[in-house]
Amino acid sequence: MTSALIKQLSAAIVSLKPYTTWGRAMIVVTGATGTVGSEVVSGLRARGERVRALVRDGSAVPAHWDAGVETVAADFTDPASLDRALAGADAVYVLVAVHPEMDAHERNVIDAAARTGRRPHLVLHAAAGVGEHAEGVRFLAAHTAGLGCLGASGLPWTVLAPNGFYQNFLGMAPTLHTGRLALPGGTGAVSYVDTRDVAEAAVAVLTGDGHENAVYTLTGPAALTHTEIAGVLGETVGHPVTYEALDPEAALAGMLAAGWDPWRAEGMVELYGLYASGGASAVTDDVEKLTGHPARSFAYFVTEHAAALRAGAAS
Ligand SMILES: NC(=O)c1ccc[n+]([C@@H]2O[C@H](COP(=O)([O-])OP(=O)(O)OC[C@H]3O[C@@H](n4cnc5c(N)ncnc54)[C@H](OP(=O)(O)O)[C@@H]3O)[C@@H](O)[C@H]2O)c1
Repeated sequence: MTSALIKQLSAAIVSLKPYTTWGRAMIVVTGATGTVGSEVVSGLRARGERVRALVRDGSAVPAHWDAGVETVAADFTDPASLDRALAGADAVYVLVAVHPEMDAHERNVIDAAARTGRRPHLVLHAAAGVGEHAEGVRFLAAHTAGLGCLGASGLPWTVLAPNGFYQNFLGMAPTLHTGRLALPGGTGAVSYVDTRDVAEAAVAVLTGDGHENAVYTLTGPAALTHTEIAGVLGETVGHPVTYEALDPEAALAGMLAAGWDPWRAEGMVELYGLYASGGASAVTDDVEKLTGHPARSFAYFVTEHAAALRAGAAS
């Protein structure tokens, strides 16, 4: 081998290093300004990763991001904007919002990744039960369609399938002053999970090896009934909170009367039907496998958010 050729090869190896040893691959995060995505972005930056965050025109950049986050304006409904957002990506966190067109949004991101001419690792943020309980639960059906697109893309993929988020209960705080937690969840237990554990698991998969073709179901450490959840919330806000299992029709009527979009309201009733049947009660250790620590418990989450819950319940 000539010395010129050896020099050329050495230069090529050095130029590859940022994408291998030094972990400086370009990671694109969609849904980046939301609950999970914003934590994925800051978690990646805390590890010194190169991050490009997809931010819709007019949306605010989360205050906790550092200046090193590259932002790009794009919209799930605009394939050309997705092409610009994903250009040069080595990995993509595919998180779309709950929306009547969420299956098309997920497909549009995956298709744009396939058009990059590279082989970015796609990490699909789906939901527990994807591919399994899709029948009759529209949110899961949408993610199951996304799963099909992943397979068809020919790109390396991983699926993160979190169960319901603890953080959903923060939004219910203003109703707790009534002493009622009224949901159509029957008596089924649900292994809810903390979004911070979901984000940490996402960071581990986006920056680690050996996750190709894996589906991780992310849950908390225990499945809790809504009666147990109401008990924990009551202890925190300082007065008893009792779970009331709503009839699905009554729950739907209540959401519609409160101005909910019918598609989303019907979807919530379907999801709580799954919860009521016990179909979301499985507990896994995938959070611990990916993050190296046990999943946060609901009691811990509530203790940490006690001030916000008390303030909400008092309003
Ligand atoms: N909530 C749960 O309990 C739960 C449990 C398991 C799985 N999931 C799944 O988690 C996902 C939602 O995650 P999340 O709660 O973190 O989301 P989120 O807080 O609702 O944030 C949604 C993100 O999507 C962006 N977005 C919305 N429409 C867009 C568009 N047309 N083009 C580009 N960006 C758009 C939003 O940007 P803007 O800031 O511009 O609005 C935001 O960054 C869903 O796929 C859901 O199925 C939820």
